[in-house]
Amino acid sequence: MDRAVVVVAAGSGTRLGIGTAKAFVPVAGQLMLARALEPLFSSSSPTLVVVVAPSALLEDCRRVVATAAGAAVAYTAVVPGGTDRHGSVQAGLAVLPDSVTAVLVHDAARCLTPAAQFDRVFDAVASGAGAGYVPALPVTDTIKRVAGDVVVETVDRSALVGVQTPQGFPLDALRRAYAASTQSETDDAGVFQAAGGTVRSVPGDADAFKITTPWDLGRAESIVRSRAS
Ligand code: CTP
Ligand code: MG
Repeated sequence: MDRAVVVVAAGSGTRLGIGTAKAFVPVAGQLMLARALEPLFSSSSPTLVVVVAPSALLEDCRRVVATAAGAAVAYTAVVPGGTDRHGSVQAGLAVLPDSVTAVLVHDAARCLTPAAQFDRVFDAVASGAGAGYVPALPVTDTIKRVAGDVVVETVDRSALVGVQTPQGFPLDALRRAYAASTQSETDDAGVFQAAGGTVRSVPGDADAFKITTPWDLGRAESIVRSRAS
């Protein structure tokens, strides 16, 4: 099986508010993108890696990818992203060779995602008879349905999970799903499911949280520092 990962890193990081494209912000001294790529190039299975970057930062991105890859990978590509995540994923899928059977789509903003999570999703796709797979964690807060500031009811959280990336799919089916997509879905599994695909979950990992706000960046930096000490 040919495996590939599309890392979407073309977002601007508006909510982080630093004024630099988010994937190019340092997290405890190393760029977010470099941290996100680390588990991909340390994998023992050959993996094709496509990074989708802001068009103004393609050369910077190529340097980050080359440094992270070393001699470890057969194929990498860096391509410009779209105006939204949906367009960026499509740009990444478009340059994958047809020999790829399993593709994972991953947010660079989840830069502390452990290698084991990529392996879990790849293994599930390989044995999954055409299904898509998402890493998921149980919801721990009590969840309420509201109308404005009125709390309507408590939602049964035993039937809810929070989902992360990487999300994994058979490449041809994910390409078809994106081609048919209306762009209203908020993740790749949503696109896949809207096209009739079956999606299942595998266990997620707390470290695969998405850096969205300055508080998240601080949390990521504390985790990195606690690992080093
Ligand atoms: N992304 C992308 N292309 C876009 C928008 C988002 O590749 N046009 C990527 C981001 O780089 C990120 C992932 O999708 O890795 C999740 O997006 P998000 O956390 O929303 O990042 P940003 O869009 O950069 O942040 P914000 O929404 O705060 O601007
Ligand atoms: Mg965004």
